[in-house]
Formats: sequence, structure tokens, C-alpha cells
Amino acid sequence: MHCVRKVNESLTWVGADDRKIHIFEGVYPLKRGMSYNSYLLKDEKTVLLDTVDKACLETFLENVKYALDGRKLDYIIVHHMEPDHSATLKTLLDYYPDVTVVCNQKILNMIYQFFGSDLKLQTLIVNEGDTLNVGEHTFHFVNAPMVHWPEVMMSYESKDKILFSADAFGTFGALNGALFSDEVEYEHNYLDEARRYYTNIVGKYGPQVQAVLKKASTLDIKLICPLHGFVFRKDLDKIIDKYLKWSSYTPEEKGVLIVYSSVYGHTENASNILACQLVEKGLKVEMFDLSLTDVSVVVANAFKYSHIVLASTTYNMGIFLLMDNLLHDLISHNLQNRTVAIMENGSWAPQAGKLMKEEVVKMKNMTILENSVTIKSSVDESSLTQIVSLADAIAKTF
Ligand code: FEO
Repeated sequence: MHCVRKVNESLTWVGADDRKIHIFEGVYPLKRGMSYNSYLLKDEKTVLLDTVDKACLETFLENVKYALDGRKLDYIIVHHMEPDHSATLKTLLDYYPDVTVVCNQKILNMIYQFFGSDLKLQTLIVNEGDTLNVGEHTFHFVNAPMVHWPEVMMSYESKDKILFSADAFGTFGALNGALFSDEVEYEHNYLDEARRYYTNIVGKYGPQVQAVLKKASTLDIKLICPLHGFVFRKDLDKIIDKYLKWSSYTPEEKGVLIVYSSVYGHTENASNILACQLVEKGLKVEMFDLSLTDVSVVVANAFKYSHIVLASTTYNMGIFLLMDNLLHDLISHNLQNRTVAIMENGSWAPQAGKLMKEEVVKMKNMTILENSVTIKSSVDESSLTQIVSLADAIAKTF
């Protein structure tokens, strides 16, 4: 049975939730499912905006059929060819063979790559600045390369002032009946997941996101309709401000993220002592044990906070593997502009600190504090003094 929501008089959400999915893109754990958004606009012509993941095919087809209410489907605009939005395109074309696919040339190339070059379809190729009038409504097309793949485009509908933003402004998590961000406690319940989604999936491509945000700043936008998560109709400036910060690698908050990997608890002990010292000085602290926390959560918090303390035991003469993986991820995601402090542990040849510094300098504009901490097996008077000094040094940078 169909399950749709009205965005406005002309536009209907025909997407679906998938709560059975536990891993997104084969790597990001999900606790609250995922939504795949598709929208149907009805004017003199009917226009479907994107399709959904294959897991939601049945519901999606029901939704489209219901929302069309007997009308034919004239156009489908394809903004992004990643299969979480396009895997059901071919089946949709089987059901609606007369539909015209509206996309740019890169998208069309990917349609053939995914579905075979012998696929039969009618196309309308659009480029940056082109428009499609479907009655009272007109779509204006904007290329958005690398937000999140190279073919991505967005569209702006100028009558109702809607930005169809592809992956941008999405979040992890199912919608659970809500459609608009103001129907849920977004900042409390979803912002962390929106940050985790953006930073891990698109975070590497900050300059490209900045370029699109610059284009969007010239538009009068009343609604943002992303491909995942909620539609924004209120407080658009808040989520846009987050995107401006994330994409420019500007910390959202002054605060210290302490991330540690600890085999027998002594590096954890040192991290706890440092955290107590910092909080006593009035600083905000967030802490994660890398053995218990998915790296995507840590990456998101590294984008959030101004300061990062990396605490690792020495392992196989190197950095503990989970910390090594985190650093690789932070470098891959282009993190910049943070103040970093280092704590290392090693019972006979501590060198994780030196090696972590060599990784941190691969990121742009990272300030590594001169004060560091070396623990030999467990915290003693000497390393305690170093921790106290490090807390002082961190506090001085606030
Ligand atoms: Fe939600 Fe890049 O796909």
C-alpha cells in the first residue's frame, strides 16, 4: 500500500524508509535506518525527481502510481546516479516507457554504465543554466560536481522556490512518518547524524560544496528537498550555516575531542586525567574510545570541535591500528584547521607520538602543540606532570 506525504499542493514525497539496513555504502553503521527521497510534481506535465534504493522498490512503485492518480509520467529528473537513488530507475522505465529522462551528459553516461548501453530511453540532456518548463513550474539546472559524485546536479524550481539538493543537506536515519525537519527535534535527534553523513560522505569535497553554496546563495530558497532525510521549510539558515562551516573545515564549537586507543586501560587512564583537568578549567570535552566507537562518529566530531587530542599506545613498533585507521580517515576527509595534542604510551619503545605527528602534518593548517605526553606502561608522577602541563597548554589556546 502507498505511503506518501504532501510537500505542498503540487509536490508529493514518494520516497521510502529502509529500517532493515544496518550498513550504508558498505561501511557506515546505521542504528535508525535510512530514507531515500523521491518527489513527484504535478503540473501540466508530471515530473518525478529521482528514484530510490532497490530495497524500497515495491513501496516506491506503489507511491508513484498512487501520486500520479491515473496520469502519465512525463519526465524523470535524475540528479545523481549513485545506486541508492538510481537502482530502481530501470524498473521505473519498464513501468513508464514513455517517460523522458532529464539529466546531464555525465549522468546519461552512468545510466548506460549501470544498466547497459543497449538500454532504450528518451532523454533530454540539460546543462548548467538550462531550464525545463512544465506548466506553472520551471526547473533550473545547476551542476554540483563531487557533491558527492562528479555527475551530480541540483535543480531549483522557481515558482515554489525549491532547491532539490541531491545528497546535500541529507542525514542518516529513517523519517518515521515525519517529512519536514520541524516535525522532529532535528537539532537534538538528527543533527549529529546529519554531520556524520556529510563529513564522512562528502567531507573530502569542501571546495566543491562551497562552490555550490555560493551559487545557492543567489537564489531565493523557501524549501530544501534533499535525497535523504528531512525537507527544510523553516530555519534554513541554520542547516546552511552548518554546511558553510563543515565545507570550509571551520570548527563548529570550541572544545576538545579526546580520542584514545588503549589496550590495558593505562592510555585510557591518562585520557581521563586530561579530561578532568580540561573540564576543571571550564573547557568542553568530548571523548571516544576507538575500540568501541565507529570511526565515522569520530570523524564527524573531529569536524565539530576545534581541538583534538590523539592518545595511542605503541603497537608493532607503530601506531595502534585503530588510531592509524582514524588518522588515515581524517587525512582522506581533508580535515584542516585544528589544534592537535599528542599522548603516547609504550612499555619499552614508545614511538606512536612521533608517528602520529608525521600523519597529522599531512593535513592542512594543523597546529600541533609542543607539549605532549609519554607514558611508559602506566601513568606515573612524571607522565602526570606532563598531562597537567598539556592541559595548561591546551587551555592557553582557547
Ligand atoms: Fe545518497 Fe551519493 O548517494
